[in-house]
Amino acid sequence: MKFSLFALLAVAVTCADVGTQTKDAFVLAHKQPLSTYAVENMDFVLEYGIYNVGDKPAQKVTLDDRHSFPTNSFEIVKGLLHVHFEKIPAGGNVTHSVVIRPRAYGFFNYTAAQVTYYTDNENLHVTLTNTPGEGYIYRQKEYDRRFAPKYTYFLVFFALIAPTTLGSYVLFEQSKARFPNKPVKKTT
Ligand SMILES: *[C@@H]1O[C@H](CO)[C@@H](O)[C@H](O)[C@H]1NC(C)=O
Ligand SMILES: *[C@@H]1O[C@H](CO)[C@@H](O)[C@H](O)[C@H]1NC(C)=O
Repeated sequence: MKFSLFALLAVAVTCADVGTQTKDAFVLAHKQPLSTYAVENMDFVLEYGIYNVGDKPAQKVTLDDRHSFPTNSFEIVKGLLHVHFEKIPAGGNVTHSVVIRPRAYGFFNYTAAQVTYYTDNENLHVTLTNTPGEGYIYRQKEYDRRFAPKYTYFLVFFALIAPTTLGSYVLFEQSKARFPNKPVKKTT
């Protein structure tokens, strides 16, 4: 009997918890790279999304990801790593993009961005985005070799076939000179 009472109480508490949560602002945030590869000295695009899944507006929302991309390792090309949104209405969302450029190559840990906001009753809440995990920043040369368009291969191919093609042309010209009266058959 005691046990079931306790269980009921626990359920009630859980319900109350969910109840208060949904009657206020409740913010979820995500962080996602939009670029497929991170390459040294090349633009890398990140997107942040902040969603208020609660029933009340979230006030004074801040997003801070400065500690993930210290300026000695990353150049901030476009956008800010610390932004402020005055209000996100209930059910609303905002997205924010930043373009950074890694200064060096190698393994690198993406860490979570921090989001803070105030609910109506002036309570401060802190939440984190997901952490995309460990990534690799390619060396520019390595990236070019693996993923850049294969123009160099075409050039090499052309250089290889050029002597043959040129040789045939020279032979053709020579035979034309040798038999000047023979009409050249056109193949169409
Ligand atoms: C984000 O807000 C826009 C309108 O501002 C809406 O069209 C879109 O569906 C929302 N996205 C999500 C995931 O709620
Ligand atoms: C990234 O984090 C993992 C787990 O914490 C660790 O094993 C790894 O050495 C870290 N890598 C770098 C480049 O800091």
